[in-house]
Amino acid sequence: MPDLTEALGRLTVQEKAALCSGADFWHTVAIPRLGIGWIMVADGPHGLRVQLNAADHSGSHTSLPATCFPTAAALASSWNPDLINRVGAAIAEEAQAQGVAVVLGPGVNIKRSLLCGRNFEYFSEDPYLAGTAATAFVTGVQSRGVGTSLKHFAVNNQETDRMRVSAQVHERALREIYLAAFEQCVKQAEPWTVMCSYNRVNGTPASQHHWLLTRVLRDEWGFDGLVVSDWGAVRDRVAALAAGLDLEMPPDLERSPAAIVAAVESGRLDEAVLDRAAARILDLVGRADAPRRRKPCDYEANHDLARQAAAEGAVLLKNSSVLPLAPAPGATLALIGAFARKPRYQGAGSSRVNPTRVENFLDEFTARAGDAVTVRFEPGFPLTSAEVDEDAADQAMSVAAGADYVILLLGLPGRAESEGFDRDHIDLPRNQVSLLRRLRTAGPPIIVVLSNGGVVDVASWDADADAILECWLGGQAGASAAAQLLLGQAEPAGRLAETIPRRLADSPAFLNFPGQDGEVHYGEGIFVGYRYYDARSIEVAYPFGFGLSYTTFSYGEFVLGSSGSADAGDLEVRVCCRVTNTGKRRGSEVVQLYVGQQDPAIERPVRELRGFAKVDLAPGAAEMVWFKLGNRDFSSWSTASSRWLVPPGRYQIALGASSRDLKLAATIEIAGTTGVRRPLSDASTLEEWLDDPDGREVLLRAVGSGSDGQSNGIVADASRIRVVGNFPIRALAIFPGTGFSHELIDAVCAELGARTGTERL
Ligand code: BGC
Repeated sequence: MPDLTEALGRLTVQEKAALCSGADFWHTVAIPRLGIGWIMVADGPHGLRVQLNAADHSGSHTSLPATCFPTAAALASSWNPDLINRVGAAIAEEAQAQGVAVVLGPGVNIKRSLLCGRNFEYFSEDPYLAGTAATAFVTGVQSRGVGTSLKHFAVNNQETDRMRVSAQVHERALREIYLAAFEQCVKQAEPWTVMCSYNRVNGTPASQHHWLLTRVLRDEWGFDGLVVSDWGAVRDRVAALAAGLDLEMPPDLERSPAAIVAAVESGRLDEAVLDRAAARILDLVGRADAPRRRKPCDYEANHDLARQAAAEGAVLLKNSSVLPLAPAPGATLALIGAFARKPRYQGAGSSRVNPTRVENFLDEFTARAGDAVTVRFEPGFPLTSAEVDEDAADQAMSVAAGADYVILLLGLPGRAESEGFDRDHIDLPRNQVSLLRRLRTAGPPIIVVLSNGGVVDVASWDADADAILECWLGGQAGASAAAQLLLGQAEPAGRLAETIPRRLADSPAFLNFPGQDGEVHYGEGIFVGYRYYDARSIEVAYPFGFGLSYTTFSYGEFVLGSSGSADAGDLEVRVCCRVTNTGKRRGSEVVQLYVGQQDPAIERPVRELRGFAKVDLAPGAAEMVWFKLGNRDFSSWSTASSRWLVPPGRYQIALGASSRDLKLAATIEIAGTTGVRRPLSDASTLEEWLDDPDGREVLLRAVGSGSDGQSNGIVADASRIRVVGNFPIRALAIFPGTGFSHELIDAVCAELGARTGTERL
């Protein structure tokens, strides 16, 4: 690879335009005359999808075999960044073996609605958990010299009308919820690329959103990598380039390069903008050595890692003392559910992997249960429809009636959820729930094993199950992981990365999803996921952060200390506690730290996840767990001041096993950010001017006072200020007797240097 600056100087405008457009579906353009090579990119977040022949972004055409790891929904439920990091590294090793320079993932969009068809591909409803998982993944991939593409930037929280819909979202919700995970990952892991989303954000296509792609991503967060379009997201190539979108994929070869050249030649596009984008592509090509140095990789080891990740990502929701299974010699286990032979282990769309192999639960469980027990299988229901198959159900009943335990595999069939469309309900197919109800009458305890990418209703049938293990879409080794968990050969260690509500109608976006007429209103604002259920004290089926273990834990020795200040930017709150395994088995606890301001002056969530630590403890063992909080952990985004502020007041710091199971809590007084002035303008209200010491002084001086020394006009009359204090001052000029005129208002604004010309969202 030649020197970047030198190469850039030798490129023609045509070549630079070509570079910014890619060569085909998966490759960048090579410029052989300058020794500039191409690179290949490929999906995706749960395993590679390298297509050598027909290319598509819907997962219809085949790809090279690769390890299918658990989906993001399962990975995040492990609450184990180290594990996610290792999965990232393993995917990168496969990328190197297959000549891929950049892996198109992870997807870090917030699970705003339970119905989003792509929730399986996203981590969490909580930005800190999603950001931590994404950071771990990106760090893992990039540690092997392979790039990532953090996607889909931004506010891509639904599939309905995904290429056009405008997400109408307030800046505070954007900053605190929808951008926060991107921000964390960009700052901590420095992904090589960021992929813009298809949708519009407050009316502007993400691919042309200067505020998003340049002002926030680069100027504020310091991103210095490349911005690539989602596949087909570019509408106006020149506008996109000007907004900060460097590489269009797949390229619109007929139009885009020519449009860029024409725009530069006509002066509509500054050539420096094109140079910057071309330089970023050259830089990316230079960083990526995958095409040149293929390395073999260990697919067997990756299969084992996929199993470990699936086991850690499964969440034990319920256990009425039936698990782990300890069947007596000679016992019979009824294994029911078509998923036992035909597993649902991955999602559909661009993240679809052609697995190196796929396990099934029937074989894996039978092999692990040993010869001393009998395993009898019946499918019980068809996967192709929701209609009850009476014969299949009867057969399942007869097997269950003679068994000591029933293991029932339920879940969403592949057709129920996918990239490209959203769900319209969260129910399991009718035939599955009706089978569960019938089996209940057979007598033996029932253990339900779930496979689904997005949350499914559990509340309506929960009482009919003795145990529930939520396995999500656990990847190609998910079956052995589930078998190990049921048999106690692995410990359940997953926790919910998303709330399971009692009803879809309870969920935050219920009345605002998926929008209409090209717009979706994020009316719930910052109250997404548990932030909403907690604010409204809504009972849920299983709360955020919840998950059972086969052992028990106690929490003690809570210590809280602080130093520094919000103003100096060095506020530090240190929290620690001791966690002890009080049970008889080894197990992992996820200690979760929540922060919530008490009686806030502005709307704030009751509590927000600000840290977590997973500890693996032998029976009787204990460990101290430490956390450090800083300014940002107490902050809220002030749209008026365009910055993060720490509101002063008392904050509860709580440690617990879930968002609804707080074990230790204490409050701490935080001085907060002081001396923050709202910028004043003629659109600021009279009260805002009078509340600001400088504004007040300038205004009172301008309005003047009478011979008695009392202020003139409205500012002399407290009762009138009460009534019209919320008028922008410019509106006061037209009311007689206020003491305000247009000249006076212009003069006070000029004197104060009132804000002008700031780019706003
Ligand atoms: C998806 C992206 C994916 C791309 C390439 C798009 O449809 O939204 O996540 O990386 O296709 O397959």
